[in-house]
Amino acid sequence: MRVLVTGGAGYIGSVLVEELLRDGHRVTVYDSLYKGHAAAVAPEATLVRADLADGAALRQALGDNEIEAVIHMAADSLVGESVVDPAKYYRNNLVAGLALLDALRDRGVERLVFSSTAAVYGEPAKQPIEETDPTAPTNPYGETKLAFEHALAWYERAYGLRYASLRYFNAAGATERCGEDHDPETHLIPLVLQAAAGQRPEVTIYGADYPTPDGTCIRDYIHVVDLARAHILALGSLERGSQVYNLGCGGAGYSVRQVIDVARQVTGRDIPVRVGPRRPGDPAVLVASSARIQRELGWQPTRQDLGAIVASAWAWMQAHPTGYR
Ligand code: UFG
Repeated sequence: MRVLVTGGAGYIGSVLVEELLRDGHRVTVYDSLYKGHAAAVAPEATLVRADLADGAALRQALGDNEIEAVIHMAADSLVGESVVDPAKYYRNNLVAGLALLDALRDRGVERLVFSSTAAVYGEPAKQPIEETDPTAPTNPYGETKLAFEHALAWYERAYGLRYASLRYFNAAGATERCGEDHDPETHLIPLVLQAAAGQRPEVTIYGADYPTPDGTCIRDYIHVVDLARAHILALGSLERGSQVYNLGCGGAGYSVRQVIDVARQVTGRDIPVRVGPRRPGDPAVLVASSARIQRELGWQPTRQDLGAIVASAWAWMQAHPTGYR
């Protein structure tokens, strides 16, 4: 299939592009490179450097490359930033996303896979979280992702768009070529590994007084390749109708302290830790039920072991000590 990936130069996007190419798809990456890295894009893909809000550039990219389906990953995704600058999130995640949907209608592209988030659930009432559980975002990031999901449902009814919305939990890990290179870095696993590598003095645990066994937050870490494979399954199933899927490994999840302990084992390094205050907006526990995508699409995580996930990120970091620069 001829697929356009918005945000395909980003962390998850670049891995998805590798997997799409592996399966024989023809891939166009549409990315402004304001956060993504040209070097992360596999050389076999076509890179179009343009803004998501640029309707003319979008239409041209869709037409020139005879695109049949779009995987829409371009977004801002920092919860804390979204609270202090909601305008940016409404503009980039919702308004620019709607520009994409307009361009798809104009060009007759009716297949879309969307990167959504566990943040749509807010403070969940129960664990593991199922897709039918209430959505009640507690920040503009989750709110704008949910608003876009709602637009998709209405566009399906009115215009025949077929979509899959994938609600990611905590993407982690790396492939040989592609890994996590954010500036600033805010995610736990890369920060812990940077401390192991001596690139930062310590890791701050954001709160050790949560109602969890060791007092630190529990998250559901999913290897980025497992996440990418889910997009490809979703893409192949759009003919059967639109759907929303959670994507995590489920189980008990891992606490912040467990992540740090695993990283100590994997790296064999000392990782200095200090306990700081809670980070506003962090739910105590976020664990997915991925039963729906397992049942309907046959998706199975193949790299659930946190040690293997952290080891892949560590290997990438050692091979790319300055990231993509
Ligand atoms: N954490 C620390 N110290 C740090 C960084 C993180 O203790 O220096 C903790 C956080 O408080 C959280 C856990 O480690 O409990 C994981 O934090 P991340 O920032 O790595 O990931 P989040 O769970 O906050 O965020 C992820 C995605 C978001 C998405 C969110 C859904 O990265 O895009 O899940 O709630 F919105």
